[in-house]
Amino acid sequence: MEVAQVLHMNGGVGDASYANNSFVQQKAICLSKPIREEAITGLYCNTVPRSLAIADLGCSYGPNTLSVVSEFIKTVEKLCRKLNHKSPEYKVFLNDLPGNDFNNIFMSLDNFKEKLCDEIETGVGPCYFFGVPGSFYSRVFPNQSLNFVHSSYSLQWLSKVPEGVNKNRGNIYIGSTSPSNVGRAYYEQFQRDFCVFLKCRAEELVEGGRMVLTILGRRSDAENPAIKEGGYIIWELMATALNDMVMQGIIKEEQLDTFNIPQYTPSPSEVELEVLKEGSFAINRLELAEVNWNPLDDLNALDFESERSESLRDNGYSLAQCMRSVAEPMLVNQFGEDIIEEVFSRYQKLLADRMSKEQTKFNNITISLTRKA
Ligand SMILES: C[S@@+](CC[C@H](N)C(=O)[O-])C[C@H]1O[C@@H](n2cnc3c(N)ncnc32)[C@H](O)[C@@H]1O
Repeated sequence: MEVAQVLHMNGGVGDASYANNSFVQQKAICLSKPIREEAITGLYCNTVPRSLAIADLGCSYGPNTLSVVSEFIKTVEKLCRKLNHKSPEYKVFLNDLPGNDFNNIFMSLDNFKEKLCDEIETGVGPCYFFGVPGSFYSRVFPNQSLNFVHSSYSLQWLSKVPEGVNKNRGNIYIGSTSPSNVGRAYYEQFQRDFCVFLKCRAEELVEGGRMVLTILGRRSDAENPAIKEGGYIIWELMATALNDMVMQGIIKEEQLDTFNIPQYTPSPSEVELEVLKEGSFAINRLELAEVNWNPLDDLNALDFESERSESLRDNGYSLAQCMRSVAEPMLVNQFGEDIIEEVFSRYQKLLADRMSKEQTKFNNITISLTRKA
């Protein structure tokens, strides 16, 4: 599987589209807002730039894509008013793999600019938008051309399925029955990819430039944390649905055995270690936050019982749709379109069952960095 060709979120605005099912990712963006605000304030006050170039890497499309851009511009404009400065101009670069629904973003830009002008009554500096297709595991911008880089829920995707996982039978990720080399192969692929990512961004950011990354991660440092953590269970349950379909002859065993998800959810110390090893960035903050599996749950749900009853009402539908909007193109590429409805109907039941029994959460790591001189 060529990840750069196959990986993209479901496009358009239909029921299974990413635009309509990205609530989990939206929550992650909300939770990391204070860290971004701190980074943007530091960037502006230390450099007082006349022009600000910002990039969102793995921007996808839909409501989340421009929300961080809007927040960035509002924060800077507020500082300009406070400090009695003239507004800078903004260059906004939106990056994703070529299969992303860039047209959807481009078509929403006029509305976005109008809304921004309405919301910031005191005026906004000129904004210029650019779509930049390409893998962030390579250079995507000219030398020292960016002031601020943001990425949310994208860096857990690897550049490829690691080599050496061909004996991962019956699993599609690091599962509880995976051979012991599988977890290591995934971790080593993450190390290689994240190091390349940091090196590329170090070339593209100006000295003193800031970068805030939120990555779907894990809490535990254990080498094979397959069993307990939310990001692992989610794929293990999908593997269960696929295995059941193999047993019933709907999917060929060989198709399942050659399918592995190109994703790795690192722990905070694994992220920190790569940043320290690469050496171009100073770490300002490194935080872990939790997002409940059920995207409909209130962020401030007070206790497990109230979260659980909310999950039961939804019956796994929202999370299954969320996962469908993310994983459908990869599944279609491997198994064909005909099995999709069946896979997700089984998957929803498995998710609902799990959510009725325990409180399951995704762990998000946010790291705030400054490009060293
Ligand atoms: C789950 S979406 C997150 C989108 C958005 N940032 C949000 O928070 O809603 C992950 C995005 O990362 C993109 N992505 C994954 N690997 C990438 C790569 N190597 N280069 C650029 N984009 C990538 C995917 O195509 C997808 O659109």
